[in-house]
Amino acid sequence: MGFVTYEQEGFVGLITINRPKALNALNSEVLKDLEAVIDAVDLDNTRALILTGAGEKSFVAGADIGEMSTLTKAEGEAFGKIGNDVFRKIETLPIPVIAAVNGFALGGGCEIAMSCDIRLCADNAIFGQPEVGLGITPGFGGTQRLARIVGVGKAKEMIYTAFNIKADEAYRIGLVNAVYTQEELLPAAKKMAAKIASNAPIAVRACKKAINDGLDATMDDAIVIEEKLFGSCFESEDQKNGMSAFLNKQKIKDLGGFQNK
Ligand code: CAA
Repeated sequence: MGFVTYEQEGFVGLITINRPKALNALNSEVLKDLEAVIDAVDLDNTRALILTGAGEKSFVAGADIGEMSTLTKAEGEAFGKIGNDVFRKIETLPIPVIAAVNGFALGGGCEIAMSCDIRLCADNAIFGQPEVGLGITPGFGGTQRLARIVGVGKAKEMIYTAFNIKADEAYRIGLVNAVYTQEELLPAAKKMAAKIASNAPIAVRACKKAINDGLDATMDDAIVIEEKLFGSCFESEDQKNGMSAFLNKQKIKDLGGFQNK
């Protein structure tokens, strides 16, 4: 795909947004390529994804301001929907997605990172929702996901002031899970993805679904969501193998059942 590359290493896929001349800004073409790459992921043989940006300066510097500059109301809404649909696809993908934020994560860049399950960043990363300085609201889910991740007060402060924050502040407020040097970031993301991929894939998928679906439900409904997914694991070979290995004091053999997916 022109603006998005994909590499597979074992059970882990690496997606790279590749438009470095524009700091990986998201225009319609990039979003279209990204969606096609996500749709093509072989979910039978992939257990985790990493999303990063090409170059050393930027993860994603936002939605493309040139493209947005001439949009009408209806076109603006349609552009928002394109981004929202792709980001929601990332968020609801059955397997975990780790954002490896290697520089600017502004506007749509912060928003795409927030649609991933886990955010790791380099020490040069800058996060922010600068949209009100451009006369618009965040348009790819920022008003919703930022408040859910860092809390309503901090999200409102960031969005109303349009102040950017550095990696250490992003870590302090819980927007990222960890900060690495630029050299360490991708190896750290790969290590985490490999660890996730070494666990029972059906169980990992069930955990993602339980957490995501549960967050949109009342606690009474949410625990039922977990009960059902917990129960479904007992039909998997990984549950039988994993538990019998423990009880027989053996090392757990390969956890790899994609059965009953
Ligand atoms: N859209 C289009 N082009 C962009 C871009 C964007 N969001 N961000 C950077 N670029 C382009 C620049 O226009 C420039 O292109 P040219 O070389 O052709 O002039 C190139 O990338 C390099 O950028 P700079 O020269 O500006 O690099 P810098 O190091 O001086 O500054 C920056 C880096 C602070 C990230 C600055 O580029 C910037 O502020 N970019 C815009 C960030 C932004 O406002 N993002 C939010 C967009 S709105 C949005 O995302 C809405 C939404 O929620 C859907």
